[in-house]
Amino acid sequence: MQVHLKGRLVPVKEAVVSVFDHGFLYGDGVYETMRVYEGVTFMLDEHLRRLYRSASMIGLTIPLEMDSLKTSIYDTLIANSLKNAFVRLTVSRGHGPIGLDPDLCPEPTIVIIAQELKDYPKSFYEKGISLVIPETKRNLMEALNPRIKSLNFLNNILAKIETKKRGAYEAVMLNVYGKLTEGTISNVFFYKDGILCTPSLECGILDGITRGVVIDLALRDGLGVKEGEFTKEDLYPAAEVFITSTTLELMPVSKVDDQKYAVGNITKLLHKAYREEVNVYVANVKAEGPSLWGYE
Ligand code: PDD
Repeated sequence: MQVHLKGRLVPVKEAVVSVFDHGFLYGDGVYETMRVYEGVTFMLDEHLRRLYRSASMIGLTIPLEMDSLKTSIYDTLIANSLKNAFVRLTVSRGHGPIGLDPDLCPEPTIVIIAQELKDYPKSFYEKGISLVIPETKRNLMEALNPRIKSLNFLNNILAKIETKKRGAYEAVMLNVYGKLTEGTISNVFFYKDGILCTPSLECGILDGITRGVVIDLALRDGLGVKEGEFTKEDLYPAAEVFITSTTLELMPVSKVDDQKYAVGNITKLLHKAYREEVNVYVANVKAEGPSLWGYE
């Protein structure tokens, strides 16, 4: 396996980062996870735009143009002969003496890891997964804005620990005002009274790329969509619940705390539409020419 580290491809054994890297010392950095279908990175521009936005929200300048990052992503995929994969692009503050001051680090560390994507168990999509609402509250927007896709994931990890203790797969965290936010690595949707509902960005969530695609598809299919403030009492009586992320796509939810749900038609319809959207995207990128994705 080859890893893209600081501008070049190196064997995984040599892909090491300094113990003085502020990503390691302080979780100071940002990242993106992308999914690759048939050698094409889905929603690549959107992911990279969000990466630059996250970086700018922490005052981190990425010293490369977007096109250069794109080339490095495809170089990494080609070096590992990967076509159905995920890519993790990390930009940390870089190496510097101990101390919080970002100016201690002259150069960000950029790492691109591409790995084969192991399919999630089929049963997850057929039967759904379980969610819990943990005690851990989502970070306050005013403290550490969840729109920054940062390397500092302890908030999510604490929720994940609770989730595992309760035997569930994913959480839906509340914010300090008791409003639903998002999962540890996913956004959440529920379908109730003919409307597809999802917490608004103002509740303090990551503006998931998959979430955005699903909202657009739902609107295109004539569904009512409401982005708003919801409580767990709004969620429990829903007809259908599902979560979204780049790697999971749309995953049905069969249980939230003690409340049970069937895998419903709206979830199935939207997942089908999502898959079709992926296919169209892949075909369009391929039609632009092989140099874009490096495979023939
Ligand atoms: N997770 N919310 C959180 C907190 C996330 O970490 C993620 C993504 C999402 C969904 O965003 P998107 O649809 O853009 O993937 C929502 C990725 C998969 C990860 O952590 O690797």
